[in-house]
Amino acid sequence: MSIAHAPAKVIITGEHFVVHGQPALAAAVNLYSTVSVEAGSPGIVEISSTELGVTARFQAGKEGSFIGDGHRMLEPLMLVIEKILDRAGGRGLGLRVRVESEIPVGVGLGSSASTAVSTATAVAGLLGLKLTRDQICELASVQERSIHKKPSGIDALVTTYGGVVLFKLGQPPFHLEPTDDVRIVIGNTGASRSTGDLVSRMGHRIQMGDMDLMRMSDAVGQITLKAFEAYMRRDFHQLGQLMDENHELLRQAGVSTSQLDNLVEAARDAGAFGAKLTGAGGGGCMIALCRPDEGGRVSKAIEAAGGRSYSVAVDRVGVRIG
Ligand code: PMV
Repeated sequence: MSIAHAPAKVIITGEHFVVHGQPALAAAVNLYSTVSVEAGSPGIVEISSTELGVTARFQAGKEGSFIGDGHRMLEPLMLVIEKILDRAGGRGLGLRVRVESEIPVGVGLGSSASTAVSTATAVAGLLGLKLTRDQICELASVQERSIHKKPSGIDALVTTYGGVVLFKLGQPPFHLEPTDDVRIVIGNTGASRSTGDLVSRMGHRIQMGDMDLMRMSDAVGQITLKAFEAYMRRDFHQLGQLMDENHELLRQAGVSTSQLDNLVEAARDAGAFGAKLTGAGGGGCMIALCRPDEGGRVSKAIEAAGGRSYSVAVDRVGVRIG
């Protein structure tokens, strides 16, 4: 049996506009997906997801493509597995893939990318296929493109490498040295939504030449560059303020919700350096940055405002076997 784990991610600044070429700052956090893979009946790939409560069986068809029987939600993951079977020359093989995760689904924490990355790593491990991190990330992106239509690729990158990353499309990522001097508290509104739809809507408005949105895009790009510098200087007051500014711009762009705004406000009132929605918005999660000794207070405030809180640390490793 081969087992792999991959972390969740939070976007500290720059979501949405990262799809349109602006930089974004993100961190891997210590909530994990775990995928275990073992040999199964020849020519059949069975995938089961504990969290989604679904199982699907895929059978190698005459054309060489796999035909699904079961839940369509697992088809994008099968695309990743298919690519790896191809690389390993193992199409006739059978696999039993079990997906477990402590990352809430569809709320902006990159659960799909994390699952794709741990699946790619676990399947390659069972087949004895040596893949670099870049190759794992590329393979996982097949699923991301199928689910999210036009992803920036930041989720797959961060969950693969771990740590804190400055990301810009078309440029090599810059990996920052993480610190434990600051805490990230996540607040989940519990309202799930489709990243693909939110990203498409935003993309459509930018394509139509929405000047306000284009100005916001430039402003968020500047915020990310300042946030990067603040993180490098360990100036968390400044970083928190920049997160507040980023949230305000996302709110004006129409991707926040009153629930998210309430959790953000509660975290700030409880002493966080700053807070903002994270990921695509429209529901999902917010994050607050705070001193490690204030994490408990900020978590309680988020819970009192109706959110589910997770006090997390930066994951420094990314995907791992075992
Ligand atoms: O909501 P999530 O975790 O899927 O994050 C999406 C981040 C976006 O910037 C909105 C999209 C992207 O692909 O970068």
